[in-house]
Amino acid sequence: MNKDFLLFHKPFISEEEVAEIADTVRSGWLSMGPKTIRFEQEFNKYIGAKRSVAVSSWTAAGHLTLEAFGIEKDDEVILPTMTFPATAEIVCYFGAKPVIVDVDEDTLNISLEEIEKSITPKTKAIIPVHYGGQPCDMDEILELAKNYNLRVLEDAAHSLPAYYKGKKIGTLSDVTCFSFYATKTLSTGEGGMICTNNEEIAERTAIMRLHGINRDAWKRYSESGSWYYEVVAPGYKYNFTDLQASLGLPQLKKVDIMWEWRKKIAARYTEAFKDFDLIKLHTIKGDRESSWHLYPVKLNLEMLTKNRAQLIDELKKQNIGIGVHFMPVHQHLYYQKTFNLDDKDFPVSSAAFPRLMSLPIYPGMTDESIEKVISVVTDVLNKFRK
Ligand SMILES: Cc1ncc(COP(=O)(O)O)c(C=O)c1O
Repeated sequence: MNKDFLLFHKPFISEEEVAEIADTVRSGWLSMGPKTIRFEQEFNKYIGAKRSVAVSSWTAAGHLTLEAFGIEKDDEVILPTMTFPATAEIVCYFGAKPVIVDVDEDTLNISLEEIEKSITPKTKAIIPVHYGGQPCDMDEILELAKNYNLRVLEDAAHSLPAYYKGKKIGTLSDVTCFSFYATKTLSTGEGGMICTNNEEIAERTAIMRLHGINRDAWKRYSESGSWYYEVVAPGYKYNFTDLQASLGLPQLKKVDIMWEWRKKIAARYTEAFKDFDLIKLHTIKGDRESSWHLYPVKLNLEMLTKNRAQLIDELKKQNIGIGVHFMPVHQHLYYQKTFNLDDKDFPVSSAAFPRLMSLPIYPGMTDESIEKVISVVTDVLNKFRK
């Protein structure tokens, strides 16, 4: 491995996580157990939700949430095209239809106009995705949901922590799902959390994450547990584990420190690139705060002699790792073919995608590497200026 290469992302792991993992391994309780429960409680306290249910991924969290909403075959669920395909695939699990819509140009968050245009008598839910960590227009989305009697599942895979009009993401609607995948702002390798203010949803998802077994089944091999359990529905194997919680507990303690670090990097990039005519910066609206999970920029291709893929290769040659978020869902083969989707119905995301690239942003990045990103991006783009 080239030690000069600046990775696009690196988890922020210290000796605390290593010690906690060792403690768990020595305890002999490797799957869901006391540390998972503690992680749920502490996460819940941090977010300020009523209940938090830990699961194996965001995908599992979203699937369980739609199950708890009672989504059925032929129902429709509205979601944005600018997301990871997981947001759409969980709808397909039910034989329901993901109604994929375009986004706003400045934020790449779901367009309110497009949501409203897409509502039909079959619509059951909306999944707003807080792209890159910036909250969607939640007041308006919740108002629409109320008027049309729709459920809301917030895809907060990018937004730990983020604030909308002073309120933390995770407290605004019925259900918010977080991801703890390896590249996320808090990482347990794989993992997810369902935060809800609705007791019934908390109960249902907690049961369905572990085979549909009634509560506290995870204790059945402990001293206080019982060998007897009942299955109340055919559930899933989506539980979190104490090994994952061993990463999650120390990560949670420093989640705000990690956020400060990302905010500092974002501020430096914004300062450095604000007058650079070869890229357009991402807009953050004044009444919300991003987690800065991503720092996306749009290339001004009209003024460049190379396309995005060629420029990313050039940046790679100069030891800078770059991400792309996202190829719009409507362009992925399955969704395009199955739902007959066409770029012309997604003018904003189709125009944005070929220009998008995400710069490295994560705690642990040194001032030197931040400055290196700035100078290499500036030099490489200037080199290919028309
Ligand atoms: C917006 C969004 N939603 C959902 C997911 C899926 O998360 P997980 O890998 O935890 O299932 C991701 C993962 O990258 C994501 O970026």
